[in-house]
Amino acid sequence: MCGIVGYVGHRDCVDFLLQGLRRLEYRGYDSSGVVALTHGGRMQTAKAAGRLDKLIGRLAHSPIHGTTGVGHTRWATHGPATDENSHPHIGGDGLLAVVHNGVIENFRSLKERLEAAGYIFRSATDTEVVAHLIASYWEQEHAATSLTAAEMVEQNYEPLVRCVRAALQKLRGTYGLAVVFRDFPDVVIAAKLGSPLVVGVGDGEHFLASDSSPLVGVTDKIVYLDDHEIAVITADTLRVLHRDLGEKPADVRTLALAAGEVDKGGYEHFMLKEIFEQPDTLCNTMRGRLKPDEATAHFGGLNLSPKELRSVRRIVLTGCGTSWHAALVGEYVIEELARIPVEVEYASELRYRNPPLDDGTLVFAITQSGETADTLAAMREMKRMGHTTLAISNVVGSSIAKEAHGGIYLHAGPEIGVASTKAFTSQCVALTMLGLYLGRMRHLSPVQGARIIDDLQALPEQVRAALACDEAVRQIADKYAQCGTFLYLGRQFNFPAALEGALKLKEISYIHAEGYPAAEMKHGPIALVDENTPSVFIVPQGAVFEKVISNMEEIKARGGPVIAVTCAEGAATIGDLADDVIEVPTVADFLQPIVTAIPTQLLAYYIALRRGCDVDKPRNLAKSVTVE
Ligand code: F6R
Repeated sequence: MCGIVGYVGHRDCVDFLLQGLRRLEYRGYDSSGVVALTHGGRMQTAKAAGRLDKLIGRLAHSPIHGTTGVGHTRWATHGPATDENSHPHIGGDGLLAVVHNGVIENFRSLKERLEAAGYIFRSATDTEVVAHLIASYWEQEHAATSLTAAEMVEQNYEPLVRCVRAALQKLRGTYGLAVVFRDFPDVVIAAKLGSPLVVGVGDGEHFLASDSSPLVGVTDKIVYLDDHEIAVITADTLRVLHRDLGEKPADVRTLALAAGEVDKGGYEHFMLKEIFEQPDTLCNTMRGRLKPDEATAHFGGLNLSPKELRSVRRIVLTGCGTSWHAALVGEYVIEELARIPVEVEYASELRYRNPPLDDGTLVFAITQSGETADTLAAMREMKRMGHTTLAISNVVGSSIAKEAHGGIYLHAGPEIGVASTKAFTSQCVALTMLGLYLGRMRHLSPVQGARIIDDLQALPEQVRAALACDEAVRQIADKYAQCGTFLYLGRQFNFPAALEGALKLKEISYIHAEGYPAAEMKHGPIALVDENTPSVFIVPQGAVFEKVISNMEEIKARGGPVIAVTCAEGAATIGDLADDVIEVPTVADFLQPIVTAIPTQLLAYYIALRRGCDVDKPRNLAKSVTVE
């Protein structure tokens, strides 16, 4: 959701800015813009509502150049997606330009004050307040000092930093932001609070971005900024200043991402590539974590002793969207394997609840991006209440991963398609390993533990086998692509799988879909059933197979088309009861949601494709939702 890029160095910044914005497209946006500075005191901007190609077209027609600049993709929050509301926003009378991710909650009162002081607003955004506010401090400071560019360098850009800091102190809300100054074209000042920012360190050049993907291929040296930090970035220097700790050495780390991880690798869409990566991503999530000799799993980063883990009496799993569905899978699996009571809560609700949780409660924030605002806020609230909070996240160094007491990284590689696929299955497998680990500390015998390890080790190849349904699913997608409503039904472990299947379909194909526990369907949703409303049953063989078949009969009796996702044995029993059958390999019941996710992901993908939807960048959605 919104993206920032920046450059200071010896090259024309616009090339990097556009290439970086292209890499950030996956986050979701509806307009974009760049600003470039030259030494002749020119600060030029280009902005366009709509796709990045529109901005690129404008720049081809009226190029701008400079060796310092910043760029932005905006996902509208305050004011619609228009050229005027696109970032960068200009402060004062062309003194400076700002790009900003996050939300300024007190922008109205600040705007009133700035308007009363004569500042003219040209957009409906909260960001423009930041631009004018910094300008107002600069105008006070500049009137007193009238510094030249050379004097500013001598003073280490301190006067500019003072103005930015003074403005930040007035803001309530969240920001990752970057400021450039018309009269000081060799510096970018960036600041972070609650919205990620990283700096790439090059040779005589520095790069700025809201996540690491724009840096891939340009540098492998990365600095993750923390909340309340300000970075003063020139071609040759990087100073990091913390609000409370003063100047601190920049913690330069190695970026372990290869170019192949952020491109489509020959697939038509990132989503399809990520679906097909799952045999490998599941291996990566499990790598080094299964201990066959002790018949258990282990995790390097939980930062809790076995004794502390044995005293856990309750687990809370929280997250949003697909991560919340993974949490539901986790609830079934952990309760089954470890016999610990598990509660699953939407992060957006947990943050405002006041749940009476006892000592011995362990809270897991589950999140692909590690930046989801609601999940971060829920985790902070749980921490404030004194509970141990751990993260299950895919993004190393993300805000949630950093603020948690410890956690589990998914190691699924960057997920760029907006619809989460490989992160979901990795989350499910991480939670299953957690169930095994906690179970082996309690009642699971070595024999039971060893069997679960065998099941887990076989999983990647079973997922590879499940991917063989690709062609069959494509044909089923063609058949049903014009339907207006779908039901997804499953029970027990496959109830969350049904919810996730429905979410996938609605987010990328814009078809109304509902996921339900199969038996619950007759308490309302069955009224939706007619010959144009397909029901996708997630019904592999298992404890509730016969029960779900009865639910299938109920749909059939009302003329609803039935698509069954099942295993070979199940297919034989289902026979003609289903109009279409998609076969997946037989796996242990607690691993079924992982294997059955494959056809439902593919079904959503092919239906969306058939309907001409932009699969990787569905309307209105953002990859990481950094606003409440
Ligand atoms: C759906 C999807 C979203 C995210 C949700 C939470 O495909 O991707 O529902 O799961 O926005 O995001 P994370 O997992 O990054 O916290």
